[in-house]
Formats: sequence, structure tokens, C-alpha cells
Amino acid sequence: MTPFVYQNMVKILFGQGQIAQIAKEIPKGSRVLLAYGGGSIKTNGVYAQVTQALSKADHFFVEFAGIEPNPKFETLMRAVELSRSEKIDFILAVGGGSVADGCKLIAAAIPFEGDAWTILTKRAPIARAVPLGVVLTLPATGSEMNAYAVISRSSTGEKLAFGSPHVMPAFAVLDPETTFTLPARQIGNGIVDAFVHVLEQYLTFPAQAALQDRMAESVLSTLIDIAPSAMAEPAAYDARANLMWSATMALNGLIAVGVPQDWSTHLIGHELTALYGIDHARTLAGVWPGLIDVQRTAKREKLLQFAERVWAIKEGAESQRIDRAIACTCAFFNSVGVPAGLRSYDLAADTPKIVAQRLSDRGSLPLGERNDIDRNAVERILSLAMTV
Ligand code: NZQ
Ligand code: ZN
Repeated sequence: MTPFVYQNMVKILFGQGQIAQIAKEIPKGSRVLLAYGGGSIKTNGVYAQVTQALSKADHFFVEFAGIEPNPKFETLMRAVELSRSEKIDFILAVGGGSVADGCKLIAAAIPFEGDAWTILTKRAPIARAVPLGVVLTLPATGSEMNAYAVISRSSTGEKLAFGSPHVMPAFAVLDPETTFTLPARQIGNGIVDAFVHVLEQYLTFPAQAALQDRMAESVLSTLIDIAPSAMAEPAAYDARANLMWSATMALNGLIAVGVPQDWSTHLIGHELTALYGIDHARTLAGVWPGLIDVQRTAKREKLLQFAERVWAIKEGAESQRIDRAIACTCAFFNSVGVPAGLRSYDLAADTPKIVAQRLSDRGSLPLGERNDIDRNAVERILSLAMTV
């Protein structure tokens, strides 16, 4: 286990009825930006609960609607303009990961001098940000309890990430009932996104981090256990509650401490969203079979541990156990309606070359826990994934 510093100050308000508590969490006299997406919160009662809580506490608020999935820089800059003119000093993000991420950029950009896009392209330092809170309606990204955001820009076709402790939410409300209106496609996406978040922090090489390994395996096993019920029954409270907490735990930094990480499935996946508009989680399930095929030797020891502890595969030769663990994982993705592999997307034949070139141009290569995924490896990963 390598040395680490861990601090996570996000206050979690979990369970039914917790939206009413936001009034107490937002400082008195705040001028609040209430930001949301395309309107799902208006049809499922979340908007009503939020506005009632704000009004009851006499919080002044201004609304900003229309933060799209894979939030767009251009849209977010309109929210920054509005926030500056309304002298906003607290942001309330109500929605999924896209709204939470979008609000993180808004929060950092309001006091930022200069071009806010440099926060993403040049890692321009963020000295401060407007405080924000999140009411989460889609369990998937972990954004509600981490310091990261992923932002897209229409004019350049880019999808880039940034992180800063200043954009960690002050609080996050996780009420599983808000997920009852999610279409099955989004539940499947959420399960796969959380599952792959854990894999990126776990399927590397052994680091003698026994607790982190067991915690990672617990999140994976919980997701596998609850997936059938979470998919089949929208109002299965317990399944949705366990999904929601698992997705938060998958990416709040706890399982990442002191261990190697490999975010290559995500980084390659972001390029596919930027190029083709494929849902984030679908790019992950799409790329993963290629990644694991190319990296199976490098990840051999952890793959065997994953096979035994998560999929209960103990018999057979090493390579057979690894094959079966990979097959089980792909079958799991398919079982929640998210295709493993990229064959079903009809991507242009030169996609592997284009993605490798884009990552290389941006200085993102090499990837992988051993920095061994270069341009050629990215091309091989995608070429293989496109045959699955
Ligand atoms: O916009 P509305 O109308 O709210 O509809 C949304 C959207 O169309 C809908 N939805 C959300 N909650 C709902 C609901 N529909 C019915 N009932 C509800 N309760 O779901 C659609 C997708 O929402 P979105 O927020 O885009 O999904 P998700 O939470 O999966 O977020 C994806 C974004 O997060 C980024 C991704 O790259 C992508 O841009 N990620 C952020 C991370 C982070 N901050 O740490 C890590 C992740 O790896 C990921 O990259
Ligand atoms: Zn993700």
C-alpha cells in the first residue's frame, strides 16, 4: 500500500424524505442557483419537493434548466453569466451525474478570471468555487461525493475531465425513491458505470491493500446481487437503495487510496462519446472486453482474485479461470441491457486510429497502471472490442 492522504467532507443525507433537509444545509440568506436537466425532475415530484424546501426556508433562488447529458460547456457558460448577474452564492444541482458535473464547472467558473475552458484543457488552477449541494436522481457516477467533473464542448467535439477539492459538494441527498422514474436503460447504465469504476481501481496489480480489495469486491458483489431486482422492479426500494449507495462508494475515493489505478477504459470511452454520442456507460462496457484481452497478462494476478472472490471461480487452469471471469463480466453487462463490446454500434473502421491519435495529441498517453498502454495498444484494444 503506497502512502496516501484521504479527506472527504461531503455530508450524505440518505433515504426517504431527506430532500426536505436541504433547507437547513444551505446557509441562511444564500442566493441559490437551482440547476437541473431536461425536465425529469418536474415529472417525478423531485422539483416540487426541492422548491417547497427552499421556499419554506425563505431561500432566494433562480432556476437554470437544460443541462444536457454529457453537459456542454456552452450551456454551462450561460449559467455562469446568469449566476454572476444574479450574484449567486450557492448552487443546488438536482439530477444525475451530468447536472452534478455541470454545476461543478459552473461553481468553479463563476469566480474564475479568464477562459474557463482552460480549467479543462490546461488544468488551470482553481483557487476557489461557489459552494454547491447535490440532490441526486440517478445512481451511477459517484459525482455526488467526489471532486471530479467531465465536460463536453460542442464546438471542438471534446470531452474532458477536471478535478478540484473546491468543487466537492457540501452535501448530497440520496433518496432512492427519486430513482423510481428512471428508464431501465439508465438503471443499466448506472450499474455498469459503478461496476467499471470499481474495476478501474481494482483490476491492476496486487498492492497488499487487503481492505481496499475486500471493499472493492463487496461493491462488485452487491451490484451483481441487486441488479436483477433493480432492473425489473422500479419501485423495489431496497434494491434501489443498495444500488445508490454502491454507486457512491464506487467512486468516492475510498477504494482508490494506496493502490494503483487504470482509468484507460474511461479515457478511451470518453473519446467514443465525443465522436459518436454513445452513453458513457455503454462506451465502458463496449471498450472493456478489448482492454481486458490486451491487458490480461499484466492484470493476471488480480484477474484470478476477481474470478475467485467475485465470480466464485476456483477450478480449472489459470487461463480458463480468467476466460470464465471475463465471460461472466460480459454476460453481466449484457444482462442489464448494456452490450459488452462495440460490434453493435456500427463504428467507422478507422475509429481505433482516430481515438489513439486524439489521446496522443492531447498528451494523455501512455495509459494503464504500468503506463504500458501506448498508441498501438489503444488501437489494438478498440480493434478487438469492435469484434465483440
Ligand atoms: O435531464 P433530465 O431530464 O433530468 O433526464 C436525465 C438524462 O436524460 C435522466 N434522468 C436523471 N434522473 C432521472 C432521469 N429520468 C427519469 N427519472 C430520474 N430520476 O437520465 C438521463 C441521463 O442523465 P445523466 O446525468 O447524463 O446520467 P449519468 O448520471 O449517468 O451521468 C453521466 C455523465 O457523468 C459523467 C459522464 O461522463 C457523463 O457525462 N461522469 C462523471 C464522473 C464523475 N463526476 O466522477 C465519473 C463518471 O465516470 C462519468 O465519466
Ligand atoms: Zn464512469
